[in-house]
Amino acid sequence: MTHKELRIRFKDFFKKEGYQWVESASLLPKDDPSVLLTTAGMQQFKPYFVGLKDPKADFNNRVASIQKCFRTADIDEVGDETHLTFFEMMGNFGFNGQVSKEMAIQLAWEFLTDTKWMGIDKERISVTYYNGSRAGTREDSVSKQILDKLYAEGGVAAVTAQSDESNFWGPTGDEGPCGPTVEFYVDGVEVWNIVFNEYYHQADGSLTDTSDNLGVDTGMGFERLLMTVNKLNNVFETDVFTPVIKLVQTLPEKSQRVIADHARGIVFLMADHIRPSNKAEGYILRRILRRLLLHIRGTNVRLEELIETIIDEFSEFYPELKTEKDDILKSAREEADKFGRTIDAGERELNRILSTKDKLTGEEAFNLFSSFGLPIDFIKEKIEVDEREFEEAFDKHRQVSRAGVESKFGGHGLSAGTKLGDEDKQKITQLHTATHLLHEALKHILGEEVHQAGSDINPTRARFDFLFPRKLEEGEIRRIEDWVNQKIKNGFKVKKETMPYTKAIEIGAHAFFKEKYPDTVDVYTIYNKVSGDIISCEVCGGPHVASSKELGKFKIIKEQSSSAGIRRIKAILE
Ligand code: ALA
Repeated sequence: MTHKELRIRFKDFFKKEGYQWVESASLLPKDDPSVLLTTAGMQQFKPYFVGLKDPKADFNNRVASIQKCFRTADIDEVGDETHLTFFEMMGNFGFNGQVSKEMAIQLAWEFLTDTKWMGIDKERISVTYYNGSRAGTREDSVSKQILDKLYAEGGVAAVTAQSDESNFWGPTGDEGPCGPTVEFYVDGVEVWNIVFNEYYHQADGSLTDTSDNLGVDTGMGFERLLMTVNKLNNVFETDVFTPVIKLVQTLPEKSQRVIADHARGIVFLMADHIRPSNKAEGYILRRILRRLLLHIRGTNVRLEELIETIIDEFSEFYPELKTEKDDILKSAREEADKFGRTIDAGERELNRILSTKDKLTGEEAFNLFSSFGLPIDFIKEKIEVDEREFEEAFDKHRQVSRAGVESKFGGHGLSAGTKLGDEDKQKITQLHTATHLLHEALKHILGEEVHQAGSDINPTRARFDFLFPRKLEEGEIRRIEDWVNQKIKNGFKVKKETMPYTKAIEIGAHAFFKEKYPDTVDVYTIYNKVSGDIISCEVCGGPHVASSKELGKFKIIKEQSSSAGIRRIKAILE
C-alpha cells in the first residue's frame, strides 16, 4: 500500500462513519502559549474539548484529520528504526460525549482488520488498557469489558492492563484534557492510541473529573501503520521516505535515516514560516538543519535536491510546500552557507594544528568542538584524538560551568550574606543585565559557538569567561561594545518568567549544563516590546533591571586569557 492510498482509505473510512474531515493545522499552534510546536492531532481541537469553542458551530461532534506533528523529545534517537521528529498523525475525535468508548474501539478494530480497509491479521494485534495506577484516577473498566469481549470472540490476540506510565495520556503543554488510553499494537509496535478525555489536568498539577462529558482523542502513527501494513522492517522502507533514501543510499545507514527524517522536518517547519534562529522553534529548525548538513558534508548529496524531492512527494497533500518552495530553498541555502563558514573556520584551525603535529591533545580537540561546533566524530576522522584527555577536558569545562551556575544561583553576591548598600545592589543588578547583553553580543560578533564558562559580578565590574580559542581583536572588542550600547539605547524591556527547566531549554533559553539546575527556573528575556523580537533569553537567578535603558554606558576594560581555550572579559558601566 502506498502512502497516497493509506490517506484515501483513512479519509473514506471516517467519512462513511459520519465524521467531518478537517485539514491539518499548522505546526505552529495558535493561541496556546504552553506548547512550542504541534505534537498531536488534538492540538487544534483543544478549545473544543474544553468547552471554549462549540464544535457544532464550526463542524460537528465528530471529526477526523491527518495532522502534521513535530516532537523534539526523541531528537537524539533519530537514526534507529522507529524514531522520527516530524511525522503525520491520523486522528479521529469525538466531543461532548458524542462518541462512546465502544464506538471508538470498534471503529479502530474494523479499520485495522477488515479486508476492505487495512486487512491486518488479527493474530498480529494486541491491545492494552489503563489499570488506574495514578492517584485520583480509576481503572478503565468500561474499555476492559469491551476488549475482553473482543478477545473472547476470538478477535484480538491479547489484552493487558498497563499503568499510567504507558496508558495515561496528556495534556499537551502545562494544562488541558487528558485521560486513560486504549492502545493497539501490531507485531509489538504501537500503532493506535485512543485517549478518553475523562480528566482535565490543571496548571497546578491537580486533576478534575470530566467523565460526564467524554472526549475521544485518537492518534495513529501514519508512518508506523504504513510500515506494519506492508510488513516492512522499519519506517524508512515506506514510500514516505524511499524517494529521499534513494538520493543518499551510498551513505552509512544511520546518516540515511537522519537525513530522511530531518529533511522532511526542515521542509515542513519552513513551510509553516519557521526560520533558523537561536530561539524557540527557530532553534529546533537550526539544530536539525545543521545536523543534516554535517551528514551530507563532503558527499555529493545536494541540500536543494533533498528539499525538492520532499516537496514533490508531499505537495499534493500539503499545498503550502509548493507555495513556499522558493522561500524554503533560499532560507535553507542561507543557513547552509552560514554554517558552512563556521565549520570551514573550524576545519582551517584543525588543519593548522595538523600541519604541526599528528595527534591532538584532548584540550585542543575540545576547543575545536566547543568554539567552532566541530563534532568530535568529524575531528576523529581527520586525526587521532586522545579520547580520555578529551573527556577530561570536557569534565573540566563542566566544573567551570558548575562554578558559574553556583555563582548564578548565589545571585552574584546579593544573597551571599554580604551587607551591600542600595547603590551597590543597584550596580550589581545593572551589571547583571549588561552581562546578558554581552553574552549575546559575543555570539553575534564572534559566532554562536561561544559558550559561557563562568561569570562573576561585584559592584565595580562584571567578569565573564567564555570558551574561545584566541585573543580578541581590537575591532571585535569595539563592535561588541557598540552592539551592547545600541541595545541599551533602544530601551528594551526585561521580563522574568518562572517555568520548568525543560520548557526553558525548549524555548531556547541559554543555560549551563542542565544537571545543576533545579526543576523550576527563572528565565529572563530582554525583548522589544513593540515587535516582540527577543534580544536575549537566559536561565538565571537574577536580579535584573526592568529596561535596558537603565544601564548607562557599557565598556570593556580588559580582555585576557583565563585558562587554555577560555577567554575572560571584564566590563563596567559608566
Ligand atoms: N493525542 C494522542 C497522542 O498524541 C492521541 O498519542
